[in-house]
Amino acid sequence: MTISKNPEKIKEMFNLIAEKYDFNNNLISLGTHRLVKHLSAKELRLDDGAKVLDECCGTGDFAQELLRLNSLIKVIGCDFSENMVNLAVKKVKKAEFVVADCTNLPFENESFDTITMGFGLRNIEDYEQALDETFRVLKKGGEFLHLDFGRKNIFSKVFDIIVPPLIKIFYGEKLPYKYLLQSKREFPEPQELIKIFESHGFSLKKRKDFLYGVISMQIMEK
Ligand SMILES: C[S@@+](CC[C@H](N)C(=O)[O-])C[C@H]1O[C@@H](n2cnc3c(N)ncnc32)[C@H](O)[C@@H]1O
Repeated sequence: MTISKNPEKIKEMFNLIAEKYDFNNNLISLGTHRLVKHLSAKELRLDDGAKVLDECCGTGDFAQELLRLNSLIKVIGCDFSENMVNLAVKKVKKAEFVVADCTNLPFENESFDTITMGFGLRNIEDYEQALDETFRVLKKGGEFLHLDFGRKNIFSKVFDIIVPPLIKIFYGEKLPYKYLLQSKREFPEPQELIKIFESHGFSLKKRKDFLYGVISMQIMEK
């Protein structure tokens, strides 16, 4: 069965889990997600003064990593969950955050040097429109970093087995994590994803796998 990604339902779900989001991320990734985000962001070209957009910014992890790597860049995070954005504003004082839908970005054409999106595209029903919007607001020659679950190998299956009981211990509402596992299963593997990005005008610059391929990063160029 294909999972429903009705935007209103997705927004409601993230608004609901926002307060526990960071705690749960640390738990289900066994503390590795920050390192993976850091190692991914390190692969980007981040020149002083560069304008960077973090799409589906959540509680601001990527914005924080980007600014750690170069405090002289300007980072704008956007997310359609108000509760996530409110947490990001408190957590990353040096970045700017806006409540916005990635399928309809409130930015001018070619206004960003770099765009990042971590664990976001998988949740977007009209992901084709989100990719068109990403392409539109990125400058020519700019980099788009995408990070999410990668290959569906044996290590990925181990993740699927370990996560539900952990969540059961720490988290009352199991529904969002059923969603997490199902959206992970239905998400294209990196090879297929790269072809989708290419069909939207991007070309592959770099691909890197983490945690035995369970997580994968692609840097696409416009
Ligand atoms: C799994 S979280 C990832 C958050 C963060 N990037 C991270 O790596 O921790 C996915 C985020 O995407 C946001 N999101 C999903 N669909 C969106 C859309 N169409 N426009 C903007 N944000 C969206 C959700 O609100 C949520 O905060």
